[in-house]
Amino acid sequence: MFKFVATALFAASLAVAYVTPAVAEEPIVIKFSHVVTDDTPKGKGARLFQKLVQERLAGQVKVEVYPNSTLYGDAEELDALQRNEVQMLAPSVSKFDQYTKQLEIFDMPFLFDDLEAVKRFEKRDKSRELLGSMASHGIYGLAFWNNGMKQLSANRELRKPTDARGLAFRIQASNLLEDQFKQVGASALKLPFSQSFKALQSGQVQGTENTWSNLYSQKLNTVQPYITESNHGVLVYMLISNSKFWNALPFGVRTQLEQISDEVTQFVNKEAEAINSKDRESILGSGTSKLVTLSPSERQAWRESMQPLIQKYEPEIGADVIRAAQLVNR
Ligand code: LMR
Repeated sequence: MFKFVATALFAASLAVAYVTPAVAEEPIVIKFSHVVTDDTPKGKGARLFQKLVQERLAGQVKVEVYPNSTLYGDAEELDALQRNEVQMLAPSVSKFDQYTKQLEIFDMPFLFDDLEAVKRFEKRDKSRELLGSMASHGIYGLAFWNNGMKQLSANRELRKPTDARGLAFRIQASNLLEDQFKQVGASALKLPFSQSFKALQSGQVQGTENTWSNLYSQKLNTVQPYITESNHGVLVYMLISNSKFWNALPFGVRTQLEQISDEVTQFVNKEAEAINSKDRESILGSGTSKLVTLSPSERQAWRESMQPLIQKYEPEIGADVIRAAQLVNR
């Protein structure tokens, strides 16, 4: 009997061994979800990431891109990443407020003089440390992707800080951004990006802040008759993955994905400026919105009204991080 069972098991294992090699191994699937359109800096970055993976890791890794909140909106995408239902995201760092306060550095108004200063900061060791600031939440930071400088828009002309008094602004989920608008006597409503247009159109809020590319690609300019070119803050993304997923990737695959991520980061950070300036021209050309250009002293008044936030937020961001950011302005 024993001999019979052993022989049967042996035969079965041979059959399995015979069948297994014929079954092709499934590629590792990386779902990359985001909330903007394909023709924005982040949207183009996600597509390039997909293309390079297809070229270099075909059969081993497959990237599926879900743009424009089609899979998850920004209120759900981070939970989905932690459950490993998506493996890659590039949320604005403002949306990480619930996990770390240090990244609020990028939300501080008038801290960075321009995008060049932001890029210099991103090369500093302090920034590299910030990529690891959500490790305890299972979030692995790969790189910073820039969109651009933010502008203010509203249904009335915003030239002086007092012009914003009494208005409600749609903001991302960041306490610092909420305080930014309180500083000028306005209120702020944290809403998912996908709800921005409706909230402005219906009058639930009367203003917002965003980059030229986000204003244009979501048609926010069509419901905002005034755009103040304030360049008061910056919109930065962090390319992230689920730590467990990332660390379980075969070493060779992970190394190649990290190489691709570096290449795409360079592309996004170069391309973003061109996209924003093209979208700025398209908005101005469309005639939907009047451009409000601030004189140096008008811009200084906005800066001064928001200055107290540095002191208020220093304990949670860290004096060392703030100092490192201040040093990159020239
Ligand atoms: C926003 O919510 O305004 C932005 O973070 C959207 C994005 O991802 O650019």
